[in-house]
Amino acid sequence: MREAIIIDTDPGQDDAVALLLAFASRDRLDLRAITTVAGNVPVGQTTANALRIRDLTGAEGASVPVYAGAGGPLLFPLETAEFVCGPDGLAGADLPAPASEATPGHAVEAIIAICRASPDHGVTLCPLGPLTNLALAIRLAPDILPKVKRIVLMGGALGLGNMTPAAEFNIHVDPHAAAIVFDCGRPIVMVGLGVTLQAIASHEQVARIGGLGTAAGRAIHGMLTRPRPGGLGTSGHPMHDPCVIGFLLWPELFSGRDCHVEAETGTGPLRGRTTIDWHGRLRREPNAYVVSSVEAAALFNRMIERLTTLP
Ligand code: RIB
Ligand code: CA
Repeated sequence: MREAIIIDTDPGQDDAVALLLAFASRDRLDLRAITTVAGNVPVGQTTANALRIRDLTGAEGASVPVYAGAGGPLLFPLETAEFVCGPDGLAGADLPAPASEATPGHAVEAIIAICRASPDHGVTLCPLGPLTNLALAIRLAPDILPKVKRIVLMGGALGLGNMTPAAEFNIHVDPHAAAIVFDCGRPIVMVGLGVTLQAIASHEQVARIGGLGTAAGRAIHGMLTRPRPGGLGTSGHPMHDPCVIGFLLWPELFSGRDCHVEAETGTGPLRGRTTIDWHGRLRREPNAYVVSSVEAAALFNRMIERLTTLP
């Protein structure tokens, strides 16, 4: 049976690759909706970017609705990441303006409606940006929780952060939303920097993507070959968000353990830190499966194989 999913996203180049991988996996994933949130760039731009990426997939993708969501975190002012992803959030993709429109209605209402309407086996929520939309949905309509099969999120860090020394970007931007999600009681898979920084495509793999001869391949190649800003700790572009879709498709390529995870909501230098009790020292009930490793070469090879199915 296909897994029903909603991708909540702040495109961002790695979000774009994750979305394209999901569109290329409709035999396994029933992509019910794309919901956008402010993160890498403001929500108007993340929404336009989600539409630009969907347009790449042609008629096949057009049936997946895109809903615009929260314009900023629950409490803190919005912080964006143009210094990483470029002014429009998709530097290198060289995509035209959207040829389609977002579906009317707020993303949070769409998440609630889709969960409420889903059959008992539920919907998997795949947040790839700040967790604002999910937190609002949980607070507005806690009745949807039994219909949330699992939450597979990109966020957090076992080690150093990337937005601050303490915090990964998605959790840093909206730690209050993260605290609500980590406390929601549903099965959570946390795909954080501890594993996503292992997912950097080799030059050979990037060349193979460019050689696909497709619009999607050209866009991804452009994004992965643009110069990466300094000070981010890697010369290659980590495929943070595709690891979420990769986990859904090929969990056997990943490993980790159940841990208690807590998000720091203070305003000090630890804001957005995910404290991961990797050794169970706090004796707190685990609330997330924390992914710590990936077979990166196999992930990219399988991803490239799926991307060949896109126009
Ligand atoms: O820290 C990396 C995460 O923040 C990725 O999801 C990236 O797209 C940004 O949202
Ligand atoms: Ca993202």
